[in-house]
Amino acid sequence: MMKKIVLFLVLFIFSGSLIAQTPDEEKKVFIDNLLSKMTIKEKVGQLRLISVGGELTLSKVLDQIEAGEIGGIFNTVVEPDLSQMQERALQSRNQIPLYFGFDIIHGHRTIFPINLAIASTWDRSAIGKVAEVSADEATSDGLNMTWAPMVDITRDPRWGRVSEGFGEDPYLVSEAGRIFVEKMQKQSLQDKKSLVTTVKHFALYGAVEGGREYNSTDMSERKMFQEYLVPYKAAIDAGSRAVMVSLVSVNGIPASANRWLLTEVLRDKWHFDGVVVSDHGAIRELINHGVASDPKDAVRVAIKAGIDISMNDEYFLQFLPELVDQGVISENEIDRACRRVLKLKYDMGLFKNPYRNLDPNLDIDTMFADNRLHRQEARDVARRSIVLLKNNDHLLPLTKDMKIAVIGPLADSKRDILGSWSGAGRANLAVTPLEGIKDAVKDPKQISYAFGANLSDDPNLFKFLNLYGMSSKFDERPADEMLAQSVAVAKESDVVVVFVGEAQGMAHESSSRTDLALQDSQKRLIKALKATGKPVVITLMNGRPLTLPEEYDQADAMLETWFLGTEGGNAIADVLFGDYNPSGKLPMSFPMNVGQIPVYYSHLNTGRPRGTQNMGKYTTSYFDSPNEPLFPFGFGLSYTDFTIDFALSSDQMLPGGEIVVTANVENIGDKTGMQTVQFYLQDVTASVSRPVKQLIGFENITLKPHEKGQVKFVIKYDMLKFWNDKMQYVAEPGKFNVYVGDDSTTKNKQTFTLLDK
Ligand code: BGC
Repeated sequence: MMKKIVLFLVLFIFSGSLIAQTPDEEKKVFIDNLLSKMTIKEKVGQLRLISVGGELTLSKVLDQIEAGEIGGIFNTVVEPDLSQMQERALQSRNQIPLYFGFDIIHGHRTIFPINLAIASTWDRSAIGKVAEVSADEATSDGLNMTWAPMVDITRDPRWGRVSEGFGEDPYLVSEAGRIFVEKMQKQSLQDKKSLVTTVKHFALYGAVEGGREYNSTDMSERKMFQEYLVPYKAAIDAGSRAVMVSLVSVNGIPASANRWLLTEVLRDKWHFDGVVVSDHGAIRELINHGVASDPKDAVRVAIKAGIDISMNDEYFLQFLPELVDQGVISENEIDRACRRVLKLKYDMGLFKNPYRNLDPNLDIDTMFADNRLHRQEARDVARRSIVLLKNNDHLLPLTKDMKIAVIGPLADSKRDILGSWSGAGRANLAVTPLEGIKDAVKDPKQISYAFGANLSDDPNLFKFLNLYGMSSKFDERPADEMLAQSVAVAKESDVVVVFVGEAQGMAHESSSRTDLALQDSQKRLIKALKATGKPVVITLMNGRPLTLPEEYDQADAMLETWFLGTEGGNAIADVLFGDYNPSGKLPMSFPMNVGQIPVYYSHLNTGRPRGTQNMGKYTTSYFDSPNEPLFPFGFGLSYTDFTIDFALSSDQMLPGGEIVVTANVENIGDKTGMQTVQFYLQDVTASVSRPVKQLIGFENITLKPHEKGQVKFVIKYDMLKFWNDKMQYVAEPGKFNVYVGDDSTTKNKQTFTLLDK
């Protein structure tokens, strides 16, 4: 009897363990079950991402949602609308919840500096703070997905979208992308504050020919894998659950039609198993690209290449079911894409709690209440983003009892300081430089202000800028009158701080330029101010490297402040008055002139390096311009001075080994400051030419006056790897140079040898 009971118990426990499912099995069963109940049309619905607007009114969208024809919504941040949409989704036949996406590029309600500025902090915790706060605000605002980070490497400042990226360098961009993904998505997507990231734009959008928006790209596979694809891979390795495809063609095949890119590289080589989202309208554009004959053909091409979700879909619903009927696309292909979407929704916890981020009672004014904004974090990141480019005779920092003339078309512009892609922010809550400076000094009467000049004399530029309501101000007064007023104001002051550069709309999507100089109106203004004999601080607000050799000569001091976001004006005041000692470093080289573009530090050597003899004849050079940029990658001054020297733990490395770099840093000035120690590597001889220098790491150190400190960095064997002549990712034995310093031009060099064995 006893034996029988034991046997029964064993069988019971054993069969129980057969039935109990792991969470993964549970998910699979759930999704299989759901898929088996769905019609083709409903499956296609999950592949559609829709935004309300134009002909697609809210009521039409609601009907489509209820019919199971929409999988996700983007571009809405009105909570009651989002809640209503979710309610309707739950009334659809399969009750599949929606997800809600938005472009959260550099902040959501609190706007942080533009991404190029965030990269200028070279500060991982500052970058992390932006991502964390953005996710926090977005998720408490109904959203669960974002179209960020944008990690396109940008080496051509003619392209307006350089403002959205993190600059020219694969390592720095990868670090920023990785941090964005980790801090936005968090450990688990079910975390209430987790925001699903979409790394974009895969791939090479930043390499458009001539910097002209939406143009083609053409690049060797080696350069792609070695440099341009690295940041997307880093974001995917960090766990990004979505990828957005770029609008451009890659080696003759539009990315949205590029099976090699979207399937062979992304899925087969990199094992990405999240969702692939097209960019806005990209599927329609395949017809213009000349790789699809009509809308139906475009759908076929996109699906076959590897697109899962159609952003702002026009055609999937119209043509996909028919293409399946006709056997052009198999139901399996649709199932695979649909399964990925359902898996994402499952992992987000939407099936359990479709209202996880929704609060229909949250009204817009509450969202902008001062206690909900993250002003302190925004101010701190903003001041870390500022780059000091020149400071003759320690003109800066200014003292708080000076009489200051604040002049220029950008000095008091609330809209511009937010930068582009700040759609959910509010300009009226932003602090302008004029406001920040007035607030910082002893008595606001010390500050006098003049508009000075329009950003440009060309009214057509303003028409262009204001096409989509970007609101750049054009002052109708005669230019001479404005100039005269600013000269008068300058003469009455101890120092002039002039705010020049670009309107935020000039550094945006669809804002390519061929001329990167300041507009004539601004040049005239600077000249007139300089002629007063007063010291002039040129404070730049812009979203890309500009060509500024003339202004550099004219300036007594020069600050790059980019577009700094909601707290920008306060951050600028912090730096101007030395409450924060500037520590930013440029993430992109600033060309001398447009003809040098692309100019970037990690170029290859040539057979005839730039010589110093014979005026450089028969060496790689221009006879009318230096090769070097005006400001190199990694450059940025401080109110104090630092020295850096370093040592290697060994002058040899074995395969699989490592070398410790110890950098000694000393603050030899009289102010506390932060220095970013930059580590570069050069593989001197290899089977392919390697860059003259390549950033492999950076560390920050803050030192008091005359204090010494150390930072260590470990060069690991894997960091020596590259794509060799046979396109294998290997390290080759031989000599390596290590450079350590405060920017990419450092000549501080040590050498080691990688041994065979
Ligand atoms: C941009 C994307 C963006 C999308 C949605 C497109 O025009 O290229 O970067 O995410 O719009 O707003």
